[in-house]
Amino acid sequence: MTKIAIFASGSGSNFESIMSKIKQGELPNIEVTSLYTDQVNAYCIERARKYHLDVHINELKNFDSKADYERKIIEWLTSEKVEWIVLAGYMKLIGENILRAYDKRILNIHPSLLPKYKGKDAIGQALASGDTITGSTVHYVDSGMDTGEIIEQRQCDIYPDDNKSDLEERIKAIEHELYPEVISKIIQ
Ligand code: GAR
Repeated sequence: MTKIAIFASGSGSNFESIMSKIKQGELPNIEVTSLYTDQVNAYCIERARKYHLDVHINELKNFDSKADYERKIIEWLTSEKVEWIVLAGYMKLIGENILRAYDKRILNIHPSLLPKYKGKDAIGQALASGDTITGSTVHYVDSGMDTGEIIEQRQCDIYPDDNKSDLEERIKAIEHELYPEVISKIIQ
């Protein structure tokens, strides 16, 4: 079994899609040790409860520095013998201590065809661009914002009358298949 930790800051639909594939036996060699979140009210916490999964809540504002905040995370990761970190809507840059400890063993999913539309509101950026195609990218994490080596991308259409939630829904539908597939290939 390979032990992974999933980091999320928001709704956690990607986190849940991974948990659900595991439950269905589609990722037979993956064990999720815990959900890690930096947001005390995030909906991903409710989803974790459904799967009886431990949750580590760690808010940056309760620490003197980002380094201290990440030291706490590393303590938990070490005690759970976590081998890989999977970011699923985790809205913080990973700092140098975690990067060093998990070199090439951190994955992220981002809702654009990188290198296009890095950072915040990638879906809004794609809509505003006039592009007719966008999608999602799974990549390794490095010290930049959505700059790490690309592993796999999947695309979808942007229709002229799309609003942000239409497009977000279409992208998430892709992500819920893409991310577990990449985890299966890269981590198993
Ligand atoms: C996902 O669309 C993911 O690609 C994006 O956040 C969303 C999280 O949704 N990640 C980023 O923008 C990272 N830069 P979820 O909480 O429902 O899984």
